[in-house]
Amino acid sequence: MKTIITESVREAAGILRRGGIVAFPTETVYGLGAPIFNPSSISRIFEAKSRPADNPLIAHISDLSQIEDLTEFLPDYGKRIIDAFYPGPLTIVVRKKPTVPDIATAGLDSVGIRMPDQTLARELIEAAGTPLVAPSANVSGKPSPTTWQAVLEDLDGRIDCILKGETTRYGLESTVVDCTGGAPSILRRGAVTFEELKTVVPEITDVADNDPDKPKSPGLKHRHYSPSAAVAFYTPNAEKSESAYIGIAVPSCEFRKAKIVNDAGEYARVLYEFFRECDRDKIDKIYCEEIPETGIGAAVMDRIRRAIAR
Ligand code: TXA
Ligand code: MG
Repeated sequence: MKTIITESVREAAGILRRGGIVAFPTETVYGLGAPIFNPSSISRIFEAKSRPADNPLIAHISDLSQIEDLTEFLPDYGKRIIDAFYPGPLTIVVRKKPTVPDIATAGLDSVGIRMPDQTLARELIEAAGTPLVAPSANVSGKPSPTTWQAVLEDLDGRIDCILKGETTRYGLESTVVDCTGGAPSILRRGAVTFEELKTVVPEITDVADNDPDKPKSPGLKHRHYSPSAAVAFYTPNAEKSESAYIGIAVPSCEFRKAKIVNDAGEYARVLYEFFRECDRDKIDKIYCEEIPETGIGAAVMDRIRRAIAR
């Protein structure tokens, strides 16, 4: 299959309507989209990514009115979250309508919904005329793509089209919030922080309070976000000659490759692309500086821990 690279939303939407699967930019990471009411297109997403069939997809909308096509159960606190954070890097999980195909939600009776704060993404959804399911546009287990070139690196010849856009603004995936219970709880940390959510829904619980042996979000039990290189937290006596380093502090020794970032936001923005660069350079080990788990730092540390655990 030839993967078409285009800047035209019309062309990309035409490909979706004819049953193709299309990668597109969002403000978090690039997604790989298919119309939510087209199960055969959705099955092609699982195939292209080698994604485990038990990992549900997020529905992306361009207009709040589309929420009604996906769910009849939006709790009051869910409405408050939407008012405060949509469009934006946040996904709510709610009970799904029976019309939402099982393949989209991996058989769960809930569905994740997100409205991206990215013009191209919303234009594509609008032109397709339907919500699009979209996992991150990487081969399953690899770091999510933050550039269209990273999508091509993973999925060239496996998908029909890449809608070419800018490097993504946040660099890490959306925050996922479970809204199926009596109070909201964070399933995956992300660009909208726990602190920000607390100002709107003080009753929210953080991901750490969930039982790690029974992850409510199936994606959390799969290998995730890892480069081929081994990943470790930086310590001053790290073996450095053939290794790489990323962090805010300047390390005391020299590395083969080092990336110094200004703050946690930049750390989030460049982390996945740095992982990919290290793989291209055949680096064996990547040391990451530990940073405080406040604000976006909590999501950065979450992704590094998953890369270490792979
Ligand atoms: O920022 C993002 O969320 C990106 C962009 C493309 O929007 N998408 C993304 O999708 O990260 P994906 O498929 O790579 O990750 C979705 C996560 C997985 O951990 C999945 O298990 C969880 O969301 N999830 C999706 N639907 C769910 C549901 N119904 N219940 C629980 N967890 C769900
Ligand atoms: Mg993903």
